[in-house]
Amino acid sequence: MWSGWPKRKTWILAAVIAAVAAGAGGAVFMFSGLYNVGADVRHFRITEYIIRLTLHRSVAHHVQRDAPPALEAPGLKELGAKYFEFGCTPCHGSPERDAGPIASSMYPAPPSLHEALLEWTVNEQHWIVQHGLKFTGMPAWAGRDREREVWALVAFLQDIPGMTRNEYEAMLGRQSGADASGTNRVAFCAGCHGDEDTPPVSGLVPSLNGQPSPYLVRSLQDYAADKRQSGMMEPIAARLTPKDADRIARLYSGFEPIAPTADEFSPKVIEVGRNIAESGLPEKGIAPCSACHNSRASPQFPRLAGLSRNYIVEQLLLWAEGQRVQTGYGKIMQRASSGLALDEMNAVAAFYAAQSADSGKPADGKAANRLGDVR
Ligand code: HEC
Ligand code: HEC
Ligand code: HEC
Repeated sequence: MWSGWPKRKTWILAAVIAAVAAGAGGAVFMFSGLYNVGADVRHFRITEYIIRLTLHRSVAHHVQRDAPPALEAPGLKELGAKYFEFGCTPCHGSPERDAGPIASSMYPAPPSLHEALLEWTVNEQHWIVQHGLKFTGMPAWAGRDREREVWALVAFLQDIPGMTRNEYEAMLGRQSGADASGTNRVAFCAGCHGDEDTPPVSGLVPSLNGQPSPYLVRSLQDYAADKRQSGMMEPIAARLTPKDADRIARLYSGFEPIAPTADEFSPKVIEVGRNIAESGLPEKGIAPCSACHNSRASPQFPRLAGLSRNYIVEQLLLWAEGQRVQTGYGKIMQRASSGLALDEMNAVAAFYAAQSADSGKPADGKAANRLGDVR
């Protein structure tokens, strides 16, 4: 009579021999150098299929399941478009122009996103832009752990399928056919940060007007040296020469602070914020913000009056999450804000956002309307 065990043992033995043979065959193939790694020779169809399937399965497995944030927030996709033009078009092209011969000679070539995006859900797009794709040349987001920052790009990506050249140029806010501005030009920075007359493109971008120029220069150095994380500003700052950084910082420093909105926040919230800013929260050991953030303090301390509420809250959240602490100044600020609750962050941010930067006067109505459009 046959019993089960010798049969099973035979199978196991056969499987082990097959695995060893396959491994040995693979090793011989690998060491022989016969495989052509040149990017100008395509994989077999079946290999391409397997790679693509692996890629899709991996992204679907790792992606976060939470519902995405509101992608229609004012200014969000415009901010995404501005960064896209700088950071993504060299490889993916844009509705305005093809990527060019170098990118299209990569293998796999970065696809034109007109169609490629339709394959991926919104969360998957976010995952790909944040983490990049191994072995393809698709880079990870340069700002480590700045996953919220990536949503601006994803907001813009939603509009790409079907977008015309004119629509793209309108979103970038430039004349048809206009040349892309060099990164050393103030006009390039102003596209996101605004200038004397224009507010920033989104509440997530700080206005630089009237900031002490030593603070601006150091911030640019911190981004370029990977000591302050932002996937948008690190690559931009890394391209500036010290001379250009200095020149642009001085220029912005001399600009009149742009008048912020006064009417968006309830007076009660602003009053809570004012108390924190001027008296701190002694029971939590939090010092008054004004001790360091009024205009007579160190030129290394940014002024807060006139920054948008969204930007201030986002930065406070970063400190609460243990980010922006790679410099001594960042660590000072982390200690100063440690223990602030979310509603306290919101209140103090509303207080500063409602102040005009020089005097604490409420903003005039005209400017308030202008800002109201873009926040
Ligand atoms: C250095 C070149 C390069 C840059 C810069 C780049 N990508 Fe990619 N991207 C690629 C390559 C290569 C792939 C993978 C193509 C493949 O696997 O078929 C890819 C894939 C993608 C995909 C998945 C599409 C698909 O179906 O393969 C998305 C979405 C994407 N990139 C978005 C972006 C965005 C947004 C930016 C700017 C923040 C960006 N990429 C910057 C090279 C680049
Ligand atoms: C694509 C949009 C974009 C462009 C273009 C851009 N920035 Fe920025 N910038 C941002 C965002 C977003 C932040 C906030 C990043 C963060 O959270 O750390 C920022 C932050 C900064 C800061 C820090 C300010 C502060 O209050 O801490 C400086 C300085 C700065 N940018 C300078 C520049 C200069 C100079 C240029 C032009 C060479 C430029 N930026 C171009 C989006 C942009
Ligand atoms: C002991 C001094 C000190 C106190 C007190 C202080 N800060 Fe700061 N703050 C700093 C320094 C220094 C920086 C610059 C950090 C850097 O360069 O990364 C900063 C930066 C910031 C920024 C970033 C601004 C920008 O443009 O990126 C915000 C927002 C901020 N502080 C809010 C507050 C609030 C709100 C309080 C009160 C609860 C407060 N700070 C109290 C020293 C202080």
